[in-house]
Amino acid sequence: MCGIVGYVGARQAQDVVVEGLRRLEYRGYDSAGIALVHDGRVASAKRAGKLVNLEKEVAGNPLPTSSTGIGHTRWATHGAPNDANAHPHLGRERRVAVVHNGIIENFAQLRGELESVGHEMSSETDTEVTAHLLELEVQAGHDLTVAMQRVCCRLEGAFTLVAVDGADPDRVVAARRNSPLVVGLGEGENFLGSDVAAFIEHTREAMELDQDQVVTITREGVEVSGFDGSPAQGRRYHVDWDLTAAEKDGHDWFMRKEIYEQPRAVADSLLGRRTPEGLLQLDEMRLSDDELREVDKIIIIAAGTSFYAGMVAKYAIEHWTRIPVEVELASEFRYRDPILTQSTLVVAISQSGETADTLQAIRHARVQRAKVLAICNTNGSTIPRESDGVIYTHAGPEIGVASTKGYLTQLVACYLLALYLAQVKGTRFGDEIGEVMDQLDQMPAHIETVLANDQQVYDLARDHFDSSSVLFLGRHAGYPVALEGALKLKELAYIHAEGFAAGELKHGPIALIEDGLPVLCIVPPRGRDQLHAKMLSGIQEVRARGARTICLAEEGDESITPYADELIRLPQVPVLLQPLVAVVPLQLFACELATAMGHDVDQPRNLAKSVTVE
Ligand code: F6R
Repeated sequence: MCGIVGYVGARQAQDVVVEGLRRLEYRGYDSAGIALVHDGRVASAKRAGKLVNLEKEVAGNPLPTSSTGIGHTRWATHGAPNDANAHPHLGRERRVAVVHNGIIENFAQLRGELESVGHEMSSETDTEVTAHLLELEVQAGHDLTVAMQRVCCRLEGAFTLVAVDGADPDRVVAARRNSPLVVGLGEGENFLGSDVAAFIEHTREAMELDQDQVVTITREGVEVSGFDGSPAQGRRYHVDWDLTAAEKDGHDWFMRKEIYEQPRAVADSLLGRRTPEGLLQLDEMRLSDDELREVDKIIIIAAGTSFYAGMVAKYAIEHWTRIPVEVELASEFRYRDPILTQSTLVVAISQSGETADTLQAIRHARVQRAKVLAICNTNGSTIPRESDGVIYTHAGPEIGVASTKGYLTQLVACYLLALYLAQVKGTRFGDEIGEVMDQLDQMPAHIETVLANDQQVYDLARDHFDSSSVLFLGRHAGYPVALEGALKLKELAYIHAEGFAAGELKHGPIALIEDGLPVLCIVPPRGRDQLHAKMLSGIQEVRARGARTICLAEEGDESITPYADELIRLPQVPVLLQPLVAVVPLQLFACELATAMGHDVDQPRNLAKSVTVE
């Protein structure tokens, strides 16, 4: 949610900043802007719309050369996405420029104070007040670092701020509270970014910061302090992926590239999880086995696609460990006064590790003394840092706004957690756990098989070019898959899509069925239980009422053939693991249908990758 870049060094700051913005554009694309320090003053440019509009603007009206600059790509919160509200924002004398991610909750009061002493604002944003305040501080004789510390002490809300002062050309100063910011450490140059993608082209050495810290970068070094001016240290780390991971690699969309990366991502997320003796190990779990043995209830909190991963996790954890599991939307969690004790394990699932709803939920849980375990894809992000333990998903950077490999690797992490709890609590024998691990090890090959059938799904998607509504049905672990399939279609193709538990259909939603309505049905594997037979009845019910059934069913399941207008084959896998293969055709379907409709798949309207406001 908003991408932020800062640079100081020997290169052309404009090139470094614009390139950084391109890599962060997935975080927000309502507008973009840049500010450079040149000859004692700040030069800036900004434009509504995607980054390309800014690039056209600076190509037509070149900015001066400079080696110090900041940039911003916006996901609008305060004020419409127009030129005036685009960042950077400047102080009254245009000496200080600021870019901002987050929401400053007391901005109305600060704005009132400034206006009462004659300041005029040129935008509707909450950000502009910080530019005015910072400029007043530097005019009063403080350097930009101290100015930032002083201003931050007056701000309420969540923010990352990055600023330059025209009169102080060799430093960029940033601050963070509950909003992402990382430092890139170079040789004779340093970088700031909302995430490491901003500077991965130049350095893989990074530094993470704590809450309520100010960081100053110069060519020579990096200094960190608290808002109160006390000296502090960031934590250095090495980024274990490189520029190629942040490129499209010949695909039209990052999302499509990431869908095809899933076999590798799933394999990576399983790497190194077993000791030579065959026991499960989770590297950064940090919670001791004794602590885990105490756990008598699990609450999973997450948002969007991650929430659907949590729903699958409930089936697996309860089945393998018999520990009761609740799954809750992060945005609802703390408002219902949840019952938490020291023996409650709260599992927060977040690809980005920065989702504000999830972050606030884990803070609430920790205050109530529950233990918090994060399942996260982003090293150095806030949610794992504020948790008692973490399982990293190792999917590599996910840049397409719609989560794909992030989701699949979250599922793997959930299965690993479930099996680890079973091992620690002794609810499953070692050989049973080993058997599921062997099945998981086969999943990359199974996902490859599904991907090899992509043309069938693409043809089908293009056939639905003019559909205005699509339904998805599933049962058991297939139900969250149905919800995820519908979410993908809504967010990418902008058409009405809904996922239902197949058994629930007859209690109301079946009224939606009309002639020709496409209904995608996730058919569970045939097994000893009633699941498969019940699903078959559900499919017959909708087909009898005119639906066009598109069935995803395992290889060899012929019972489905008479009721499927279209049949997509899935590999034979256990029911609990089926989401790992069943969701893949739904991702391909949404990606291709949105492409055929002419939508920007990587940057769907109104969305942003990492939602850092509540
Ligand atoms: C949908 C999607 C979102 C995210 C949600 C949570 O494709 O990507 O629904 O899953 O915003 O994000 P994280 O996992 O980063 O907390």
